[in-house]
Amino acid sequence: MHDFNDRVAVVTGAASGMGRAFAERFAREGMRVVLADIEEDALEATVQQFKQQEFRAIGVVTDVAKAESVEALAQRTIDEYGAVHIVCNNAGVAAGGARPDGQPVPLWEQPLSDWEWTLNVNLWGVVHGIRTFMPIMIDQDDEGHIVNTASTAGLTTGPGLAIYGVTKHSVVRMTEALYYQLEALDSKLKVSVLCPGGVRTRIAASGRNRHDELLEGDARPSADEVDERTQSWAERIGESGMDPEEVADRVFDAVRDEQLYILTHDSVDEGIRERMENILARRNPEPRPFGDVAGGAACG
Ligand SMILES: NC(=O)c1ccc[n+]([C@@H]2O[C@H](COP(=O)([O-])OP(=O)(O)OC[C@H]3O[C@@H](n4cnc5c(N)ncnc54)[C@H](O)[C@@H]3O)[C@@H](O)[C@H]2O)c1
Repeated sequence: MHDFNDRVAVVTGAASGMGRAFAERFAREGMRVVLADIEEDALEATVQQFKQQEFRAIGVVTDVAKAESVEALAQRTIDEYGAVHIVCNNAGVAAGGARPDGQPVPLWEQPLSDWEWTLNVNLWGVVHGIRTFMPIMIDQDDEGHIVNTASTAGLTTGPGLAIYGVTKHSVVRMTEALYYQLEALDSKLKVSVLCPGGVRTRIAASGRNRHDELLEGDARPSADEVDERTQSWAERIGESGMDPEEVADRVFDAVRDEQLYILTHDSVDEGIRERMENILARRNPEPRPFGDVAGGAACG
């Protein structure tokens, strides 16, 4: 995309962290922004702060895990601004995969609700975003861009944060397919997949947005304990994490430069290479400590 002024960007997960930084970056380019998030109070506060900065912004409470909620977001966007040019499918959560005492939980013991919650938001959220917004954007026959937030955990491998990694690998694959399909159609729409390493956000406190229905059964921990289970991850991000604003600059550059892969942390290259070399050599990976997240690089 080359013209940003007056155009419309929709960002999910915009009440916090990276989503908020993306929306602000687009607003600074003169775009009208639609902030979507499940966390109502944080969303309202963010919209107020945007308005104080004289950005043109609306907030739409949205649960990306639900198709009808994402459809309502699109409808509200069109009703308010008449078009949509950038969509960031960014909302995401992480269920820890470790017990409150830090001991890792193997995949076969992780509650079904961890699977459902993480897949519903991180994977189905992107699916709903694509199925809802792409037909609208294609009909507009104008330039446009979709940015799907994956993670370095979608490029690397390891024993830790496995459910999260499953969703992020899926988002990478989905975005690559979109890239090929849009190129084959010579479309004006472009796509990017964002694969950040550790970024200083509230991701390790994802449990704050977990629905009650996904806390039932499985004799599973409370939302607070879920947060504790991601604590060591949070500490690692805190030590080496990037500021969301820096990621937002890279996302903006990638949209302008029509760049598919957006990687933020060079330290992850080794993990990507190692995985690919093992696959190409038909070689088993070296064992790693159980709790290791995607090769030990600061990774989200
Ligand atoms: N922080 C990191 O280190 C890191 C690294 C790589 C990828 N990511 C990814 O970046 C994206 C943004 O996360 P963040 O790090 O800014 O965390 P964050 O918790 O600060 O922001 C995530 C936002 O998503 C919202 N959200 C959660 N569930 C939702 C739902 N069902 N519907 C709508 N909104 C929902 C939350 O309310 C929150 O505002 C996520 O997809 C995450 O997986 C984060």
